[in-house]
Amino acid sequence: MITMIFACDERGAIGRDGDLPWNQRTDLQHFKRKTLNKPIVMGRKTWDSLGRPLPSRRNIVMSRGEVEGVEQMDYDEVLALAQESEVVIIGGGEIYSLFLQHAKEVHRTVIHTQVEAADTFAPDIEGAGFYLMTEQHHPAGPNDDHAMSFQHWIC
Ligand SMILES: NC(=O)c1ccc[n+]([C@@H]2O[C@H](COP(=O)([O-])OP(=O)(O)OC[C@H]3O[C@@H](n4cnc5c(N)ncnc54)[C@H](OP(=O)(O)O)[C@@H]3O)[C@@H](O)[C@H]2O)c1
Repeated sequence: MITMIFACDERGAIGRDGDLPWNQRTDLQHFKRKTLNKPIVMGRKTWDSLGRPLPSRRNIVMSRGEVEGVEQMDYDEVLALAQESEVVIIGGGEIYSLFLQHAKEVHRTVIHTQVEAADTFAPDIEGAGFYLMTEQHHPAGPNDDHAMSFQHWIC
């Protein structure tokens, strides 16, 4: 099964200048809970932005070139792995678009802000037929820039 997880602002922005446009500790903890001990798939640009493998998860990177120090898979290999176990797509924009048609669940965090000059955007999950199952609002904690809402969508 393929699951996706992303955080976006109120207009769907997920990135700016190769990085996340916010600091949201509470969302990082949520991301960790949803991905721990699962294979995670990311694009090479997201891999570059992380700078290291995420611990206690099988890190898989997609690239049309060679990437040092991490497992690589192509599109068909990711789909084959998803037949055996839950695979979590963790971004970025290109990789979400690539797998949207195969995803069954999305964990979306809406960050309650509107980022200026964003350059990367989430896929249109409502347009793809997902519907909202649950939503929990969280005020900004001491290490969060903004309040946020954790949403669970299924297809
Ligand atoms: N808010 C969030 O939840 C979230 C999550 C993740 C990332 N982000 C943000 O999103 C931005 C990065 O997203 P992005 O869309 O620019 O890049 P990306 O999706 O992370 O990576 C794109 C790269 O993936 C590889 N790729 C794409 N399609 C492929 C295919 N069919 N087969 C093999 N490899 C393929 C290519 O690598 P090569 O160029 O090496 O060939 C391509 O340049 C950053 O700002 C990051 O911080 C946000």
